Amino acid sequence: MMARAWAVVPAAGSGRRMGAATAKQYLPLRGRPLLAHALAPLLGCKRIEAVVLVVAPDDNGWREAVAPGPRLLTAPGGPERCHSVLNGLAALADRAADDDWVLVHDAARPCLPAEDVEALFEQLEQDPVGGLLALPLADTLKQADDQGHVLGTVPREGLWRALTPQMFRYGLLRQALAAAIESGDHVTDEAAAMELAGHRPALVAGSGSNLKVTTPADLALAEAVLRAREEQ
Ligand code: CTP
Ligand code: MG
Repeated sequence: MMARAWAVVPAAGSGRRMGAATAKQYLPLRGRPLLAHALAPLLGCKRIEAVVLVVAPDDNGWREAVAPGPRLLTAPGGPERCHSVLNGLAALADRAADDDWVLVHDAARPCLPAEDVEALFEQLEQDPVGGLLALPLADTLKQADDQGHVLGTVPREGLWRALTPQMFRYGLLRQALAAAIESGDHVTDEAAAMELAGHRPALVAGSGSNLKVTTPADLALAEAVLRAREEQ
């Protein structure tokens, strides 16, 4: 039997680096909240049974940002991204089997192409563990000293940027994230938790347009990506 799939979208951050009055996931992008764009390719994927949206406990803004429905669940956020994701996984405890897939996708990534979600399923279907969308580094890398001068050039061979979604077996991921947090390692992505648990996540080549909105400049870039796609 084909494993079922679920998604968890951490959206409990405050967007400190964006410096806006509201959390960045609610900022408007082409007439819709950023969060709505981030959810669309997941809710639009027929393989995904339901999406758990993880929001700060005192946050009701999501009710206006996204349409409620039977395929949208919520869970309370935690102090850091890893805690929020673990809470999202816990909310699936009664529904998901250990071998089911779970895709974790940042609410701050509004430009995920539907084809990249398909690529994850196509390339990982037979994998016992899972993997993540990632992009080989294109720029030359510099190591800086504390004066802002170059100490040296870092070889970029074999270096990738980690994107989301990251897609892992539900049981393994929940165990790995809980263990990482328990040991005091507040990992910044799911793959790092899996690596600590001794797994070697697969790298699935993703699109460079799947950017994470962190600063106001990123917001303008995301707007341009979405506009170009609408005009295609
Ligand atoms: N996130 C979360 N719970 C937290 C912190 C972050 O669910 N305690 C989510 C954010 O909402 C975001 C994703 O994790 O969708 C990636 O985090 P980041 O880009 O760092 O967002 P923020 O933490 O909101 O931004 P900043 O670090 O600038 O405050
Ligand atoms: Mg953050």
